[in-house]
Amino acid sequence: MEDSHDIPRHIAIIMDGNGRWANARGLPRVEGHRAGAKSVKSAVETCQQLGVEYLTLYAFSSENWKRPKKEVDALMNLLEKFLREKLPDMLKQNVRFHSIGRHDLLPEKCRRQIEQASADTQNNTGLNLILALSYGSREEITDAARAIATKAAAGEIDPADIDNELFANHLYTSQFPDPDLLIRTSGELRISNFLLWQISYSEIVISTKNWPDFRDADLRAAVEEYTRRHRRFGTV
Ligand code: IPE
Ligand code: IPE
Ligand code: MG
Repeated sequence: MEDSHDIPRHIAIIMDGNGRWANARGLPRVEGHRAGAKSVKSAVETCQQLGVEYLTLYAFSSENWKRPKKEVDALMNLLEKFLREKLPDMLKQNVRFHSIGRHDLLPEKCRRQIEQASADTQNNTGLNLILALSYGSREEITDAARAIATKAAAGEIDPADIDNELFANHLYTSQFPDPDLLIRTSGELRISNFLLWQISYSEIVISTKNWPDFRDADLRAAVEEYTRRHRRFGTV
């Protein structure tokens, strides 16, 4: 299984079920998010051990802004704390940090940590850790369409030249390969506005575990299931 031929180059995860994990224990939802942060650390370590090159984690969606202010504030505080505390580890472990999403909507303190983590790790050559924050795939696609239309109107792009590659180059993910493996935890069978363009040919693995319970063995099992799949990309 550790044969790099079989290992997905890019894993994307919809980290779901923090609230249910907390509910089941009679704890406030924020405790589920706190426990979920530990699973993030575990996923990063496992990906490094397996030789995965890109790990994209869906941490906060465009739609999650509609949650109660108390929960949104708690999530933003956890995010800021997570980035501040993990930066030394990322530097030590050669992790390169990126983020995708509408950052202008995030609190200033979070934006500052994102910028610092991105800048300080930009020359690292190990795992690329990509956090999707205030991210929505439809927003990403409409942003790309607007950018392309603006260039076309200015005469910089000929509409006849708009193809898959040009379009992908205008997405937030332009510098990353598409995910090979998409994992969703908590058993939900939906995409929830995540990487709609990029997962066209990703293999999907659903885990019934809630995200705070999803640790090393679970991620390895998902990768193992991926290695057993036969990807056809529309061919015979
Ligand atoms: C995922 O867990 C984390 C975020 C969406 C921020 P949830 O908070 O969605 O947990 P459930 O789905 O309510 O259990
Ligand atoms: C998707 O989970 C978003 C993240 C994991 C950040 P949600 O809990 O927001 O998705 P729905 O509401 O169940 O579709
Ligand atoms: Mg959820």
